[in-house]
Amino acid sequence: MTEPLLSVRDLRVSYQVGRSKVHAVDGASFDVPVGSITGLVGESGCGKTTVARALTRVIAENAAITGGRMLFDGKDLASLPERDMNALRWRDIAFIPQSAMNSLDPVYTVEYQLAEVLRRRGGLGRKAARERSEALFEMVGIDPGRLTDYPHQFSGGMRQRVAIALALALDPKLIIADEPVTALDVIVQRQILDQLKDLQERLGLSVILVTHDISVVAYICDRTVVMYAGKVAEAGSTVATLNRPSHPYTMGLRNAFPDLAGAASGVLTPIEGAPPNLADPPLGCRFAARCPFALPVCATEPPTVLVEPDHPVACHRADEAAALRIQAANTETWVAS
Ligand SMILES: Nc1ncnc2c1ncn2[C@@H]1O[C@H](COP(=O)(O)OP(=O)(O)OP(=O)(O)O)[C@@H](O)[C@H]1O
Ligand code: SF4
Ligand SMILES: [Mg+2]
Repeated sequence: MTEPLLSVRDLRVSYQVGRSKVHAVDGASFDVPVGSITGLVGESGCGKTTVARALTRVIAENAAITGGRMLFDGKDLASLPERDMNALRWRDIAFIPQSAMNSLDPVYTVEYQLAEVLRRRGGLGRKAARERSEALFEMVGIDPGRLTDYPHQFSGGMRQRVAIALALALDPKLIIADEPVTALDVIVQRQILDQLKDLQERLGLSVILVTHDISVVAYICDRTVVMYAGKVAEAGSTVATLNRPSHPYTMGLRNAFPDLAGAASGVLTPIEGAPPNLADPPLGCRFAARCPFALPVCATEPPTVLVEPDHPVACHRADEAAALRIQAANTETWVAS
């Protein structure tokens, strides 16, 4: 991989809840290459949104970044003074929050909300902001005549396009989109993803796409980062990660989702059980309680090994991945004994 745009190393983020700490991100490392889409995927609660928000440093009041580095364009976002970080937001890094389509302000027109970003953040005058808003609407496939509409006048899919237009407003280098197509029907999902891909290619953008749905990753992402219980289980090119998964969790996820492209994908096999409590995570491999391939050694922290260049896997049995993949393809492997 050429020099990545973003390099996250040993990131740690926790939430204070009463007297205990929820270790939502607990030593995550991954790279985001320039000019491509990186998918951050994993089950609900595995820490995806926490990573995404840590990258923008817009985190919950009870959250703290307690360790690690986030090197973006030569700067460590973890230690950048707030004033410099604020200057990066929207201009260099734009964030589309989870449920973005419901987070547009209902009392203002969409044009007003775009103008806020363009004028306040981008320093554009009224006329330039109007022209840019029209261009942005055209880019995301909405008639600029609808700029003066209020959010409730748009469908869910269109509101998501508006959220993408907002993110594109100041021509950022990196867009972080948190679950941009969740809650949309499959046809609209495909339209939005196709458009995101088209814009990413045309504008040479780098995108982090956060999703719980591995079929979305398979459909659109060049690179895949699989998270489990606050850690990165496996990362690599999407082709390598999904066609030749080396972590049992990735093998299980692949069996559990239908194919977004609509191809027959056979029987879906869920991974039984639930992720561990991140206020008191187990020692050793966090997937062990659900892993059909767990051995006694899995009670110790697994090493992260490279199964091929740019393809790290955190599993004691990564070198046996080819044999485990064959077993993982059998539904019975996943039925708890
Ligand atoms: N403000 C908060 N206070 C306490 N715990 C939190 C807070 N926000 C998230 N968490 C916890 O941190 C963990 C990671 O949550 P996060 O929202 O990052 O997961 P996620 O992977 O984005 O999940 P989802 O797919 O449901 O969006 C979960 O255990 C969650 O309950
Ligand atoms: S380290 Fe052990 S328990 Fe964890 S995924 Fe690998 S084989 Fe399964
Ligand atoms: Mg989330």
